[in-house]
Amino acid sequence: MKLTAEQIQANWDEFIGYIDTYISEPRKTALKAFYEKYAERIILMPAAHKKEYHNAFPGGYIEHVNRVIQAALKFEELWSEFGVTKNYTIEELVFSAMNHDLGKMGDEENEAYIPQTDQWRKDKLGEDYKFNDRLEFMSVPDRGLHLLTQHGILYTKNEFLAIKLHDGLYDEANKPYLINWMPETKPRTSLIYIIHQADLMAARIEFEREWMPKLTSNLAPQKKDSTLKKPAIKTKALNNIKSEGLKNAMQDFFKD
Ligand SMILES: [Fe+2]
Repeated sequence: MKLTAEQIQANWDEFIGYIDTYISEPRKTALKAFYEKYAERIILMPAAHKKEYHNAFPGGYIEHVNRVIQAALKFEELWSEFGVTKNYTIEELVFSAMNHDLGKMGDEENEAYIPQTDQWRKDKLGEDYKFNDRLEFMSVPDRGLHLLTQHGILYTKNEFLAIKLHDGLYDEANKPYLINWMPETKPRTSLIYIIHQADLMAARIEFEREWMPKLTSNLAPQKKDSTLKKPAIKTKALNNIKSEGLKNAMQDFFKD
């Protein structure tokens, strides 16, 4: 998958447009200043380092994030249609979707994904990018939240939880928040489920777009190998069988 320069620019404009439309002051200014400061890095970032993962191409990150914002807004309508209490605001929803994967950018100095220099790993493992060793380990949600804090961008508890838990139960660390049987310990905002659903759907769409055509073309009917002639196998197999009963049974097996 490759995006043109025009598509990459249009995706960035769309992304900044979500800040203008949905984020209120004073953090609108702070958030825009943050994204403008790191624009060059973020505009071209992939959403992953390996081809097998979703949107691992230049511009893939913003394309993915825009899709998660769009999906979150749609899921939100669906949840509302079903009469679920709105225990979050639309600004919280868009802010969480917008920043759910921010930790993928790395820190202020170091990008998380840098171009792969090992040709073998590029060819054999499909890694167009690699993790930057200079970056200290942090989970993606933790790094994203830390980046926001460092740049004076405040977030609500709902936003904190939605960003932290956006991988749902795909991340073991989220179990204490998501697996609990007592009503009083269950999450008190549906926002975390909406953001998780939106992210899950976006990643699935990106997987299908990238991989389904390749996988289904691999499943196309195989050309028959003319060297494997059935009569020859049949004769050889039957001649090796001593028991007449078994030979009769195998005759049936080899029937066309
Ligand atoms: Fe994501």
